[in-house]
Amino acid sequence: MQHQSKLPHVGTTIFTVMSALAKEYNAINLSQGFPNYPSSQKLNDFVTKAMNNGYNQYAPMAGNLDLRLAISNKYQLLYDSTYHPEKEITVTAGATQAIYTIISAFIRANDEVIIFKPAYDCYQPAVEINGGKTIPIQLSAPDYKVDWNEVASKISPKIKMIIINTPHNPSGMIWSKDDMLQLQKLTKNTNIIVLSDEVYEHIVFDGEKHQSVCLFNDLKDRSFITASFGKTFHNTGWKIGYCCAPEALMAEFRKVHQFNVFSVHHPSQKGIADYMQDSETYLGLNQFFQQKRDLFLNLISESRFKFNPSKGTYFQVLDYSEITDENDVDFAKRLTKEFGIASIPLSVFNENNKDDKVLRFCFAKTPETLKKAADILNQV
Ligand SMILES: Cc1ncc(COP(=O)(O)O)c(C=O)c1O
Repeated sequence: MQHQSKLPHVGTTIFTVMSALAKEYNAINLSQGFPNYPSSQKLNDFVTKAMNNGYNQYAPMAGNLDLRLAISNKYQLLYDSTYHPEKEITVTAGATQAIYTIISAFIRANDEVIIFKPAYDCYQPAVEINGGKTIPIQLSAPDYKVDWNEVASKISPKIKMIIINTPHNPSGMIWSKDDMLQLQKLTKNTNIIVLSDEVYEHIVFDGEKHQSVCLFNDLKDRSFITASFGKTFHNTGWKIGYCCAPEALMAEFRKVHQFNVFSVHHPSQKGIADYMQDSETYLGLNQFFQQKRDLFLNLISESRFKFNPSKGTYFQVLDYSEITDENDVDFAKRLTKEFGIASIPLSVFNENNKDDKVLRFCFAKTPETLKKAADILNQV
């Protein structure tokens, strides 16, 4: 039998490649974005309790209502923004499913979608499998600032969606209020939908404020927000997330969601809803991760790597241009094999694999692991 791949350019992701290499060489794995410390016992207990209390059958299609109420309350508390728990919030199998479903619900053949590179890797295949085309805008090290004149020059009637991500994986940069206002101005009086990937909304450093699309009224009216409890509550393996959008957009989302997932793991939803009643569970994260970032950066301050401190996410990018001319994929592999530390080369997220000689390290790790990692990086 012969078949033609719908995604001929997609291979194994760099995360799988680097994690496998880390395992083979017994290296410290700062490549993939997941914590190496446990999810909260209190949260685990809430989920167990939900199972014992009978939350074991299908959840409502849009998600457990207690959880949607908790999410709605969070938007009210943090951004003074209202999302109706019944009509404007849907719980998903991680942010990845939310992103895929949003794109499937709106992108048709030959529609164009602007993405900013380096881009998280699930955006482009989701657009392409739905017949769309991505229009990349390349951002550059070290500050990854958006050139809004360039964005303006790419807007055309073919653009159906713009995907943004702040705080930004992989660069650790955040968008300013001015960036959001520029986006709002450029999309005004268009039919462009904005997909705002805000999975790291609770990980913003140095007293900065996360600029959610929901803070800007015109933007909010055309936007989906995607979010991930895996990132927020240190349990990426649970794959629970959600999205929020105005009612009319959410109605279209649910038409697809109900036939590709229908509903997600019920006891986890109820457990997370109970856990979130205490807002400190998410408000304390900025501080928690800032301490990890500062520890990591203090420990490597004498190394030959150059850096600007990450402004958000649990990733730090390090520039190795003073160490070697090797391309970043080769250097990341050599660091894993010869020095015992795995990272992610940024070129894999860039247009035409642009190589800025930068590697991404995940610092959602215990202090012991960060110290061991720093000892190695100081010797490179
Ligand atoms: C920017 C970004 N978006 C989405 C996701 C996916 O989140 P989830 O694991 O909830 O599917 C990730 C995970 O690494 C991410 O970094």
